[in-house]
Amino acid sequence: MTIHIGAAPGDIAETVLLPGDPYRAKWAAETFLSDPRQVNDVRGMLGFTGTWKGNRVSIQGSGMGMPSLSIYVNELIRDYGAKTLLRIGSCGGMQEHVGLRDVILAMTASSVSTPSATILRELNFAPCADWTLLAAAARAAEGRGVAAHVGGIYSSDVFYDERPDLNEQMVRHGILGVEMEAAELYTLAARHGCRALAVLTVSDHLLDGTALPSAERERSFGDMVEIALEAAFA
Ligand code: HPA
Repeated sequence: MTIHIGAAPGDIAETVLLPGDPYRAKWAAETFLSDPRQVNDVRGMLGFTGTWKGNRVSIQGSGMGMPSLSIYVNELIRDYGAKTLLRIGSCGGMQEHVGLRDVILAMTASSVSTPSATILRELNFAPCADWTLLAAAARAAEGRGVAAHVGGIYSSDVFYDERPDLNEQMVRHGILGVEMEAAELYTLAARHGCRALAVLTVSDHLLDGTALPSAERERSFGDMVEIALEAAFA
């Protein structure tokens, strides 16, 4: 039991999927895991542990934004022994060839800042995905016939961004999509010798303002969860 996670020692698997939304954690656990058991409800940030194809896995909500994710990932790694951490979430598309429902496998995560910036001081650290997870996720997406883009994403500190010029620079530099968590996840995984990857579904598009209707979200989010699970246990 930690400050933010009520699970007993041993209740959380070495492999953890991290959706931002706790209700998506519940949906993914009930949809994809065998014998899912709720292991956390502190602050409503639901977490579950079950098995997938015989492999033990937890699905824990991370909340929105890097400060929230940082709390959960620090405790999962330091207190519960998590070793492989996969963010599953939505992002905004930033390139014309990236469509709604497409999956993005985040090779790198650029940012203006992360909660780790204070300890990194003047360093512009380059947060990147674990190669074995990235390659396995690319194979899993291909095997499922899912359009997956592999490349850089932007982890923003704001959803309602008053600095459109920052997005413009990201678009100009080939960044595929924007979300709010991966850069800190990758930085923490690097610091603690863990494996991490963000598997993202494009839920809205910054270039044309389109968004996925909620009825259509579930199917494409399901592809993302299965790609993450296949990559984790490849
Ligand atoms: N901005 C930031 N985070 C997001 C977005 C976005 O447009 N869409 C989904 N997550």
